[in-house]
Amino acid sequence: MAELSDIPTLAELEARLNAVPGLDAQALEAESIAVLGRKSGALTAILRRIPTLPVEERRGFGAAVNDLKRRFEEAFAARRELLGDTAGASAPRLDLTMPARERWRGGMHPVTRVVRDVTEIFRRIGFAVATGPEVEDEWYNFLALNFPADHPAMDMHDTLYLEPAGEPAGLEVQPGGRLLLRTHTSPVQIRVMQAGPPPYRVIIPGMCYRNDAFDPSHAPAFHQIEGLAVDEGIGFVDLKATLTYFARQLFGQETVVRFRPSFFPFTEPSAEMDVRCGVCGGGGCPACKGTGWMEILGCGMVHPRVLDNAGVDSERYTGWAFGMGPARMAMNRYGIPDIRLLYEGDMRVLGQFAGGGE
Ligand code: PHE
Repeated sequence: MAELSDIPTLAELEARLNAVPGLDAQALEAESIAVLGRKSGALTAILRRIPTLPVEERRGFGAAVNDLKRRFEEAFAARRELLGDTAGASAPRLDLTMPARERWRGGMHPVTRVVRDVTEIFRRIGFAVATGPEVEDEWYNFLALNFPADHPAMDMHDTLYLEPAGEPAGLEVQPGGRLLLRTHTSPVQIRVMQAGPPPYRVIIPGMCYRNDAFDPSHAPAFHQIEGLAVDEGIGFVDLKATLTYFARQLFGQETVVRFRPSFFPFTEPSAEMDVRCGVCGGGGCPACKGTGWMEILGCGMVHPRVLDNAGVDSERYTGWAFGMGPARMAMNRYGIPDIRLLYEGDMRVLGQFAGGGE
């Protein structure tokens, strides 16, 4: 508590009141606390003195103090308003000396880079980009693509269904069935063919979903890039030539590829295309698991039943298709050992790609 001798007289406070209109913002707040502050404000101290006064003086003195208090409050408020109007000039609120935050430079995600590069290579040889829905039904995702109705891929363990198990989808080929998250981009083949007559040359990037554990080589949500070419007189040699050309554009002119027989319900014959491992040159290393080859994509001639299911005359038209995983290709290209590093959004990883691309 203030000493009695520190307590100003009302006359002294009157004089201070006259000074208020000239104060700057900082001095104004300091003066406001010095006069009106609840703990040690001058007026508060004076009010505390009232009980020590003779009874007959208390009423008049109290009224004078309260009047002064009100006038201070008004003067402070008026001055504050005035300062607020001209804040930029007399009371800057921005501390311009504060160090700026470091600039955040964005960059293209490594998977996006691969998707762009792949689609660009195909775009230059006449392929258009097509997309389709990530929520499909059993018909588009499986049955139209010639999967048998009891195919294990349709099992709940592999496929993320959005609707509970109902009637079995049945073998008859007609749109419908349960809704699901597409497990590959191949259903977009059907949608492209349904949208208009051949020829088709399309490249189809997009997200796919499988009920897989998130481990070093699997992600439950991942990218695929699908390709489809259908016309009169297209043969397996077109598939091999185009995909070999593509691999050399992407990995370099000296790239060696091989085709191995494989199986997919929607292509016949089917193949996998491998690229000679760019890390070891084919001698075998951890990147290629000692095989000397990297699996790049699955492919094959479009099964005639798939063409028919999509309303394309399989007597007249033939075609080929492929599907590849750009995340795996990005891992190869950038030496990333674990697919989760690409899909977790950890900026310590992705920040290394900042500023690149576009
Ligand atoms: N859809 C197949 C997969 O997800 C890949 C593929 C596409 C194979 C087109 C052949 C033709 O594995």
